[in-house]
Amino acid sequence: MTIRPATPEAIASAARLLRDGQLVAFPTETVYGLGADATNGRAVAAIYEAKGRPRFNPLIVHVADVASARRFAVLSPLAERLAAAFWPGPLTLVLQKQADCSVSDLATAGLDTVAIRVPSEPVAQALLRAADIPVVAPSANRSGHVSATSAPHVDEDLGGSVAMILDGGPSSHGVESTIVDATGLEPVLLRPGAVTREAIHDAIGVWPSSHTGDSARPNAPGQLESHYAPRSRVRLRAQSAERGEALLAFGRHAPAHDGPMVNLSPSGDLKVAAANLFAALRQLDASGATGIAVMGIPDEGLGAAINDRLRRAAAPR
Ligand code: TXA
Ligand code: MG
Repeated sequence: MTIRPATPEAIASAARLLRDGQLVAFPTETVYGLGADATNGRAVAAIYEAKGRPRFNPLIVHVADVASARRFAVLSPLAERLAAAFWPGPLTLVLQKQADCSVSDLATAGLDTVAIRVPSEPVAQALLRAADIPVVAPSANRSGHVSATSAPHVDEDLGGSVAMILDGGPSSHGVESTIVDATGLEPVLLRPGAVTREAIHDAIGVWPSSHTGDSARPNAPGQLESHYAPRSRVRLRAQSAERGEALLAFGRHAPAHDGPMVNLSPSGDLKVAAANLFAALRQLDASGATGIAVMGIPDEGLGAAINDRLRRAAAPR
């Protein structure tokens, strides 16, 4: 069995596997990550292989603390403020690489920047400290598919290609980290995520601007239109579900439906909805429905990240 409860012994052997160049899936507070030694080109290549991920799409480097981050990246004054406010936590910063940065060029897709994240999840923290290497970790799902927020979901997508899946229970946030380009004077939001724009504004007094590149060649190259996609067709802003469709509902005013249905949060709590999102998409996808009708979700706070994922799930493949 590749799934192991995240005991101290399992974390220690996962750390050894990582140092040996193997792939280990582990929990973070956002989603499960597929980890490998960021400095080992062959291990990094195995990640692209296992996920079926395009090689132009760079990976996030995970470290235990801001001191480790400084070994690989230059923290601008803006980055220092964001790190002080949000690390450890679900914010990824895109930074200039240090001149002697040992992260494999494959992991950064040849860019002169590197994306760094310091997760707060205790198992992730313990693993990074025990391994004592920078760990690249994309979300632990097949490329383009729904992200994994539990160990069994990782197993479904990648079970055959990982040495171990550390089971730390369901992910608490349920959507990926927010990605901010902090190389300049002002923050640029590359991917909405678990840290809201509002929280960034509250912390540093500046609203992050949105990246307005063309979506075929985005600044966060993973931000492709079709992503997070279940097998079923996804229909957004539905008032009700048609016969044969599954319903992904939100809030108190969900329409009645006699087919498969999940309400992301009957009380209308966006934090609960985010935590349930990917598991709900997987569940409805497995229900045999012809498609998934999704009710409208408010676009404020965490709703921005939820709607970003749903829009990509619905995009033409
Ligand atoms: O919450 C998360 O961030 C999760 C957990 C496992 O930590 N990881 C995650 O990784 O979502 P992934 O590979 O699914 O998404 C990484 C994103 C991609 O959109 C990629 O293009 C972007 O980060 N990225 C990585 N390096 C970058 C760079 N140097 N510049 C711009 N975008 C970058
Ligand atoms: Mg992903």
